[in-house]
Amino acid sequence: MLTKEKNDLLTQTGPERPMGKMFRFFWQPALLSRELPEPDCPPKRVRILNTDMVAIRDTSGRAQLITPTCPHRGANLFFGRVEEGGIRCAYHGWKFDVDGNCLDIPTLPDNGQREKMCKKIKLETYPTREAGGFIWVYLGPKELMPELPDFEFTALPSDQVYVSKKLQYSNWAQACEGALDTAHFSFLHMPLVDGKINFGKDQFVAESSADERRLGWIRNDGSPRFSITKHETGLVIGGARYADEGDTYWRISQFLMPNHGLAPNAFPGENMHGQCWVPIDDETCWIFNYTWNPERKLSEDEVSRFQKGASIHAETDEDYRPIRNINNDFMIDREEQRNKTYTGIKGVSEQDAAIQESMGPIVDRTKEHLNSSDLGVVQFRRYILDAVLAFDNEGLLPSAHSHAGLYRLRSGSHVCSDKIPFEDVMKERFGHRLALAPGGTDTSALTPVKTA
Ligand code: FES
Ligand SMILES: [Fe+2]
Repeated sequence: MLTKEKNDLLTQTGPERPMGKMFRFFWQPALLSRELPEPDCPPKRVRILNTDMVAIRDTSGRAQLITPTCPHRGANLFFGRVEEGGIRCAYHGWKFDVDGNCLDIPTLPDNGQREKMCKKIKLETYPTREAGGFIWVYLGPKELMPELPDFEFTALPSDQVYVSKKLQYSNWAQACEGALDTAHFSFLHMPLVDGKINFGKDQFVAESSADERRLGWIRNDGSPRFSITKHETGLVIGGARYADEGDTYWRISQFLMPNHGLAPNAFPGENMHGQCWVPIDDETCWIFNYTWNPERKLSEDEVSRFQKGASIHAETDEDYRPIRNINNDFMIDREEQRNKTYTGIKGVSEQDAAIQESMGPIVDRTKEHLNSSDLGVVQFRRYILDAVLAFDNEGLLPSAHSHAGLYRLRSGSHVCSDKIPFEDVMKERFGHRLALAPGGTDTSALTPVKTA
């Protein structure tokens, strides 16, 4: 559990709150690149971290986040025309380029007055980058702007990556905790066998297909044991379950500051998945999802399934609102729940959202009863609360701020003898103690976290 003060500290991300101020020192995904599909396309409204912006793509193809407020009399530039190297306000035609320079003031006589006034006017713009299918924005002080986090998916050709986003009606941390809580997979996402969930480590599942075997191990062991390693940009979280014949099935995820997670499902060669939970305000967030494969292109079939809402990707409408959502009870099918799946809700992403939103927009963490299967969640809270307190009390920036190269990490699964310690499991599975991908930079001091 957390005290009310700590729960507020964790969940409040307005510009005057410590967590909101700290978030602003990190690049955030603001929208998908494909939301601005071509030069001079219509602008998009963006709201993250309680800040309203407008996203535009100019004639040269450059994407840019700008303030929505026209410096003339405050009209919203979302209604503006993107044209010939800039955006023109729809109210009186003042025009600005993507660097915020004023290009034209047609309400003044064309006798030198326009040029003179233009020189005095500047539109506020926010540092913007485009990488990995996302348009990223930085809302912090410009003199302390870090490098863009060097995620592996941002360095790959676009046909090896699929990205999506969806709206969630919950605080960002609630959604993030859902991804770091590996124990829930034994329940929330489980298909039933003969109308039942089987539990018990001695239930042998090895005769079935690879997919069924891993589901069997997850199903039969609902109390994974944790090994967690703390480093400069976050936490490696290993959850160990019994597999067959004295083996251990490891599911290894990553938490990366301040709001990223890598999912634990992939065996070698399989697609990896990651997410970023970006606060819109304290009660809603955007979940940015990405799937990547460093070894090959994603197939048409895979992309088509992701577009329809497979794996971490949700089925959404054109505004990125999930089709199955809290207003229609996620279209829960009680017959299906009785006979086929644990929830009766279609889609892993929707199952997560249903449960995370069911807790209310900001769950009351003072009333929880945590147990050993919640250790990933506990350590995430400790990590980020320690960081935000050091930031707020002593003005210290989190170490992740200066370690962009230590975001190039992988995550995934491994099966090995139960005698192998976690550190060696990491080296055996990923060839590196933190699962650093080729091209990443590991300068980290490691602290194994006491988990028992
Ligand atoms: S308010 Fe934008 S040009 Fe007048
Ligand atoms: Fe989940």
